[in-house]
Amino acid sequence: MARLRVAVLISGRGSNLQALIDACADPAFPAEIALVISNVADAQGLARAERARIPTRVIDHKLFPDRASFDAALDRALGEARTELVCLAGFMRLLGDAFVERWRDRMINIHPSLLPAFKGLKTHERVLAAGARFTGCTVHFVRPAMDEGPIVVQTAVAVLPGDDAARLAERVLAEEHKAYPLALRLIAEGRVTVTGERAEISGAGAPAPTALTNPSR
Ligand code: GRF
Repeated sequence: MARLRVAVLISGRGSNLQALIDACADPAFPAEIALVISNVADAQGLARAERARIPTRVIDHKLFPDRASFDAALDRALGEARTELVCLAGFMRLLGDAFVERWRDRMINIHPSLLPAFKGLKTHERVLAAGARFTGCTVHFVRPAMDEGPIVVQTAVAVLPGDDAARLAERVLAEEHKAYPLALRLIAEGRVTVTGERAEISGAGAPAPTALTNPSR
């Protein structure tokens, strides 16, 4: 069967991109990365893509007069690569509503908290300040409102005594690197259906208690 053609959008380090690259390196994995786009010319993730011989494009938002023309350039590049699914992986630009709607249910993001809790930046600091006992990561379909949308995969991570933001971030990141390839695989296998604001996964079975997907009804 043809593999799902994925474009990954990054702005920085690209460790989640690396997790997706590593998953796609298995010929049996149902997705392939057709393109990596960065809005930052010296993003570390670009070198990861180049090492894996994946085509890269830099589309620098600063060179565009407004968000709409930046989004249009992104959309053109995605079309040229015959992209079927967009994965945001540490992409630090807000996308316009029209672009998000155009890629509705064909664009996913990873966020380092258990959404809908702790949307936005500095999540680990805020988790610690709130005294939450659990945090984690979420892979979700993208909607116009930031960090909202149907949840595909969540992984819970316990907050431990003595944690600081860096230690917590490290443990959450290790889970992100498993959750993102899992979500991509489920979507590429055609097992994810979005009904309203809920993503349902068919044949989810009995997942490990810390990596839960929504079973179908
Ligand atoms: C990750 O924590 C991700 O959840 C968030 O941005 C960070 C990106 O890290 N959206 P990396 O560039 O994938 O290493």
